[in-house]
Amino acid sequence: RRTGLIDRHGRSITDLRVSVTDRCNYRCVYCRTGNEGAQYAELPIADYLRLVRVFVGLGIEKVRLTGGEPLLREGLIDLVRQLADLRTIQGQPLDLAITTNGHLLADQAQRLKDAGLSRITVSMDAVDPDTFTRITRVPGSFNRVLDGIKAAQRAELGPVKVNCVVLRGFNDNQIVPFAEFSREHGVIVRFIEFMPLEEDRLWTPDSVVPYSEVIARLEDFRPLVKLPPTTPGETAVRFTFDDGLGEIGIIAPVSRAFCGACSRIRLTSDGKIRTCLFSQTDHDIYGVMQRGGSDEDLALFIARTVAMKEARHHIGEPGFLKPSRSMVHIGG
Ligand code: GTP
Ligand code: 5AD
Ligand code: SF4
Repeated sequence: RRTGLIDRHGRSITDLRVSVTDRCNYRCVYCRTGNEGAQYAELPIADYLRLVRVFVGLGIEKVRLTGGEPLLREGLIDLVRQLADLRTIQGQPLDLAITTNGHLLADQAQRLKDAGLSRITVSMDAVDPDTFTRITRVPGSFNRVLDGIKAAQRAELGPVKVNCVVLRGFNDNQIVPFAEFSREHGVIVRFIEFMPLEEDRLWTPDSVVPYSEVIARLEDFRPLVKLPPTTPGETAVRFTFDDGLGEIGIIAPVSRAFCGACSRIRLTSDGKIRTCLFSQTDHDIYGVMQRGGSDEDLALFIARTVAMKEARHHIGEPGFLKPSRSMVHIGG
């Protein structure tokens, strides 16, 4: 009988994000500086697998592999295959997904599907190629990502989700074109409010395009119809249009924080647990493993760490501190 992970605020933690590298082949303005910067270590694939197995034994139902850019990680396909096998071991289905920038996806989509991946989310911040390049700072990136999305659809890694971080002055003119993109290509497009998790100092309250503004732009295009949540604690508020064509999600961590229903915990590429995107602390579970800890020791460490999960973030409040790691070093 599973016990389940519950934090001291009564939230049930069922969703684990695992970063498998903090390397990235893009330099998106809202995420990384142009500089290479210091890198955190990567664990052997077998060590991620062991840790995830312990997490799953404690009640994790959903695992999302992230980066940096996870498709850069050698051994990723093997990890997916072995994680997919956990379902049979535990006798219940594990929802296994990846968030990628899509650059290497055309080549890997079918292999990921064959290895047992359930779903994929592609980060794509513009449907206009020049705007896209201005954000990723890698020429020629747009067509590769588009090909990646199409390959994921052919491989039935779907329904494919597209994440768009909306940045005022960069891509806020892309909201309606993205709605058309969703309708045309059958992908779920999610607009995300920009959070202060970047390496550069780009974030200001005004750089955030809030939920209300995204809604207003979409309503100017066509009337929206709200859709019910697919899972409890879902980050996105979902919509379609009056004709039922297209699906839009709005993820509003800044203007409508969803911390009260947070079900997420993160494992960094170097084997540290992060209890919140905005944590100031790393919890070194890999240290426990390196000192020869048993699975029971690891499980105890996880349960104790989860209990300490922060109630919420404090974006926009006086005294707000950026987290001790930026997004690329935590994993989305
Ligand atoms: P599914 O919705 O299960 O398909 O997962 P997903 O990773 O595609 O989307 P999710 O809603 O989990 O995350 C999308 C984006 O929402 C992330 O890239 C973050 O920008 C933001 N986000 C996700 N989880 C959190 C969180 O715990 N806290 C905050 N503040 N933002 C989050
Ligand atoms: N604010 C909001 N979302 C972000 N992402 C990366 N950095 C930020 C940020 N500062 C999102 C990307 C990607 C996912 C991993 O996290 O869109 O889809
Ligand atoms: Fe959860 Fe922290 Fe994100 Fe809030 S900011 S939703 S508590 S991870």
